[in-house]
Amino acid sequence: MAAEMALIKPVSKFSPRIGNPRIPVGRRFSTVRMSSTAAPSPAKPKKSQKQEIQETLLTPRFYTTDFDEMEQLFNTQINKNLNMDEFEALLQEFKTDFNQTHFVRNKEFKEAADKIDGPLRQIFVEFLERSCTAEFSGFLLYKELGRRLKKTNPVVAEIFSLMSRDEARHAGFLNKGLSDFNLALDLGFLTKARKYTFFKPKFIFYATYLSEKIGYWRYITIYRHLKENPEYQCYPIFKYFENWCQDENRHGDFFSALMKAQPQFLNDWKAKLWARFFCLSVYVTMYLNDCQRTAFYEGIGLDTKEFDMHVIIETNRTTARIFPAVLDVENPEFKRKLDRMVEINEKLLAVGETDDIPLVKNLKRIPLIAALASELLAAYLMKPIESGSVDFADFEPQLVY
Ligand SMILES: [Fe+2]
Ligand SMILES: [Fe+2]
Repeated sequence: MAAEMALIKPVSKFSPRIGNPRIPVGRRFSTVRMSSTAAPSPAKPKKSQKQEIQETLLTPRFYTTDFDEMEQLFNTQINKNLNMDEFEALLQEFKTDFNQTHFVRNKEFKEAADKIDGPLRQIFVEFLERSCTAEFSGFLLYKELGRRLKKTNPVVAEIFSLMSRDEARHAGFLNKGLSDFNLALDLGFLTKARKYTFFKPKFIFYATYLSEKIGYWRYITIYRHLKENPEYQCYPIFKYFENWCQDENRHGDFFSALMKAQPQFLNDWKAKLWARFFCLSVYVTMYLNDCQRTAFYEGIGLDTKEFDMHVIIETNRTTARIFPAVLDVENPEFKRKLDRMVEINEKLLAVGETDDIPLVKNLKRIPLIAALASELLAAYLMKPIESGSVDFADFEPQLVY
């Protein structure tokens, strides 16, 4: 998994307070327990784990699912749609392990990190930290699926385990990147202390498919941009994105195969509504998140909104191959709606920063939340694009004469 995903809800400001910027680089090394928490301070009383994890609605999430239902879905005795030849072929591809020797660091990393200072340094750390959390989230989910499906479907289980290998590698590489900034994410702590969001298997499929594909498009777009504009190549991690994103692409293709094996999740009106909902959720989350962090994208020479729209359009085109309906993101009205959501979100954030008492803040938020909800609904109700290429005729009961 590479991208962040959260259900659409009004958002609060994500304000990382990592380390102390006043302490010179090289004289501090902190273990970060969660994005939006301060590095532990000996002067303050020790907080409980629960207090230290401050989830925000746009923070990358950890997921769990109904593993019993998953076992049913991948039982070849029950589900005759499972194309085991296709899964065997995918397994061989994962076993080849194309990126086994790809993630090797060199001294350029630390040297580059030491040259990044000012506000960009802070935002860079946040990028590494959020990306690491998102990758690690994929690792945890795939590892558990690999473990739980071992008996029912060893081939699918092994693919999940190999995908968790990839995600562990990605998360580890990003965490090593944090060490260049004298920080490290405490992944063991996160595993135990973070809340897990429960999604039924069908929602896990929609969400992870989109997450992998949007991750692919984000990584490859940044890679190509920096290849053409090397003057913005301020940290070597981006040079690894070309091969890295191929992992995400393979992960997405595996979820595509999984969904084809579960045609009930793709071929009815409910599937169309959910497919559009998940597309909207993922796109809006990314857009609002990134518009709060334009300094990062501008720091590497990108226009945040242009970058996001490119990623959204490409992801949507890819997704249209498998989802039964997608949003008409190429209609200019869709972007106009996203931009209005950004404006409303900025006003919401501004309310949070005033000195008003909580009651007044909440009263001020009500019309803004209503406006955001109305934009979301309007975007959801825009005329969708009917899509999907699965040949469902093969799965439908045939008349026998
Ligand atoms: Fe990944
Ligand atoms: Fe992935």
